[in-house]
Amino acid sequence: MSAFRSIEWLESGAVRMLDQRRLPLETVYHEYGAAVAVADAIRAMVIRGAPAIGAAAAYGLALTAVHTAVSDVVSLRAELADSAERLRRSRPTAVNLFGAIDRVMARALDDALATVAALQTAVLDEARAIAAEDVQTNRQIGLNALPLIPDTATIIHHCNTGSLATVDYGTALGIIRTAHEQGKKVHVLVDETRPRLQGGRLTAWELQQQGIPFQVIADGASGHFMRRRGVDLCVVGADRVAANGDTANKIGTYNLAVVAHENKVPFYVAAPLTTIDFATQTGDEIEIEERPSREITHIRDCQITPDGAEAANPAFDVTPAGYITAIITEKGVAYPPFAESLARLRGE
Ligand code: MRU
Repeated sequence: MSAFRSIEWLESGAVRMLDQRRLPLETVYHEYGAAVAVADAIRAMVIRGAPAIGAAAAYGLALTAVHTAVSDVVSLRAELADSAERLRRSRPTAVNLFGAIDRVMARALDDALATVAALQTAVLDEARAIAAEDVQTNRQIGLNALPLIPDTATIIHHCNTGSLATVDYGTALGIIRTAHEQGKKVHVLVDETRPRLQGGRLTAWELQQQGIPFQVIADGASGHFMRRRGVDLCVVGADRVAANGDTANKIGTYNLAVVAHENKVPFYVAAPLTTIDFATQTGDEIEIEERPSREITHIRDCQITPDGAEAANPAFDVTPAGYITAIITEKGVAYPPFAESLARLRGE
């Protein structure tokens, strides 16, 4: 378990989140008591990373259930549906958000839940289960990846996919952590990940705490490192993987994958099955979040572009499946063609 928790349910009936906007310089926690506040926190990126925002949305619904003032199940279900809609509108790309909301809402609609108390307990239990399963899933992803990691390895990682981006342990960063715990000599080249610097701020912070050797590099430096310094593999996370393996992840992932392909460096995607969207056939169908241009023109409050400069800020890109060596899940490793291998892992 990590020394910190990205998100936690408190017995007082609140959700506590570590404010990822302030890291690594300040460690600040906030408590939330309502789904609408959780939706705002997701949008503002107090919490971020696909599995973490899925858990946050589930806990947001639990807050609605636990703090309701209504006294009948029909009214509570209506309140939950309203909260679900608000949470769905927080961020569009990570499918975990929608999957977690759908799962909690399906539980809430169970006809056997005949009292408000029963409904409250069921919704909170489901949210807790989503959070607990995430940790186990990530540990298994790390173990499944072990045979793919050389005993001595230089690894490029993009964005942040660690304990902060999940409930604990992490996906791509969990793989690196497992390899390190198993005695492999890993050295991580951490893409700083403009514009919000999830790599330079968050991944570096996590690796430092775990005692894993790393260097932060500029996003544009990965090609140079692959060509001149020897890189054994790249591993990244995912926000949504289409049924054919096309993968939406943090902006810049596509560039990294193309350069890895050019240099014959294996390019792995680490993702729980909850990130595979079997209803989306290809990456072209995935909605890409556009974020405020201020994230490009400023770093925190410091303006870095000329007054009036326009900026475009897509938060994610789609890496075509053809650039992906394998997708590592908790159920095993999928190889191309992904339409078949992913469906097999799902149990079809
Ligand atoms: O905008 P963010 O920081 O939420 O983007 C996060 C990523 O792109 C991660 O790589 C992805 O969510 C996987 S996290 C295990």
